[in-house]
Amino acid sequence: MSLDTEKQALSIIRKLSNQGFESWLVGGAARDMILCKPPDDYDIVTSASPEDIRRIFRNRMVKIVGRLFSVCLVDGIEVATFRKDRSLTATFSSSLREDLAKRDLTFNALAFNPLTGEHIDLFGGIRDLKDGVIRFTGNARDRILEDPLRMVRACRFKATFDGEFHEKTVEAIREYRALLQTDVAGERLRLEILKVMGLKRPGIFFKALLGTGLIEYIFPSLSACVDCDGGPFHGETVWDHLLMTGDAISPRYPLLRLAGYLHDAGKPAAASERNGKRSFVGHEGKSVELIRDELKKLKFSNAEIDYIANLVGQHMRDITTDSSRKAVRKFIKRLLDHQVDIRDWLRLKIADRKANLKRDNYALTEIKSILRNISDEMHPSHEKGVFQTGDLNVSGNDVMEILGLPQGRKVGQILEALLKKVLDDPSLNTREKLVQMIKKGLNG
Ligand code: CTP
Repeated sequence: MSLDTEKQALSIIRKLSNQGFESWLVGGAARDMILCKPPDDYDIVTSASPEDIRRIFRNRMVKIVGRLFSVCLVDGIEVATFRKDRSLTATFSSSLREDLAKRDLTFNALAFNPLTGEHIDLFGGIRDLKDGVIRFTGNARDRILEDPLRMVRACRFKATFDGEFHEKTVEAIREYRALLQTDVAGERLRLEILKVMGLKRPGIFFKALLGTGLIEYIFPSLSACVDCDGGPFHGETVWDHLLMTGDAISPRYPLLRLAGYLHDAGKPAAASERNGKRSFVGHEGKSVELIRDELKKLKFSNAEIDYIANLVGQHMRDITTDSSRKAVRKFIKRLLDHQVDIRDWLRLKIADRKANLKRDNYALTEIKSILRNISDEMHPSHEKGVFQTGDLNVSGNDVMEILGLPQGRKVGQILEALLKKVLDDPSLNTREKLVQMIKKGLNG
């Protein structure tokens, strides 16, 4: 958030206070302020009614949004009247306590006054933040019943703070986990998953989903991976491999990262014994099938699903530093045919290898060499610089034969003259064109 937004939030709070209304930063903003972190966005709650807010800020851009029009946007910042609850039929309240009590997690139920530095912590949120405890505010069951998505939010915050669930919180999630299937829209789950992909270690989120049983309702294919032996080429289970792969991809590429967490989801279904060895032939196709289905239910867009499925479908393709140029060309064609971005394919490949306890990581020289091989074939005009007469597609012997010349300086001069032309225009470096130029009397 920009400094301007911070200034605006402060000025809104100041103005409301000057008019005799209570007003506080709440939610993520209060949490971040207390952690001395610049907030991502600012949410303000106040004792002023929506009508008061509109009147006080009549000279500013005020939009009324939210369920039952209970939230105002003042210059884009959320300003909401204290609420007794957060449901569709939410009723206003005159008390900050009532508002905070209905917020999901203890550290999301803090309030902070940036003008005075005062904070309100009615549910031990600061202690929980310090101890890394993820705990629903008040009665865990009630908080979940108010909005079952909060079970997934709790897992997200577990990953955000690398924390531990309070026992009542985890108990309640296990008890109500099936509500995820019946009471939460896929769109909301998608948004949570994308937020998680921006965290440092989303693997913690997936572990929390597993530990609470929520995984069955989000990525059921992954639960089969948990005890699935990774086979002779891996020193880790398929589940551990998936978590390590995703964690090894940068948060800058959320969809690619998601592909990392899902890419081997089809392994349990594809597992077989071949010549006494465990094998997963064709697992990438099975992964694509399962992932497409799950992402569709989570309301990912067709473009997002195609992107992830195409990458996963091609993750077993391989080229090495020793691949022949023909093999590299065939590989590029295949990736382009499947609309796979080659850099993303390589990013996934590097993470996939990093997540293998039995193999060494790619060496930087290896990555550079693979990239160079690809780039050379993708940009054929740069494939071979023509910088010396030896790089020409004709030789001194050709010159002598065509012109009936003996060995000597003249042959060298002709080759140099040809090279000069080719340096200007590399497309002239074909045998046919060079022979023609020699015949036409290009003799320096
Ligand atoms: N909140 C809640 N229940 C939800 C969603 C939100 O109680 N299902 C409350 C919490 O107090 C939360 C605040 O609304 O802190 C703002 O929610 P949101 O904008 O989603 O931000 P956070 O998820 O808290 O934080 P971040 O900005 O990091 O996503």
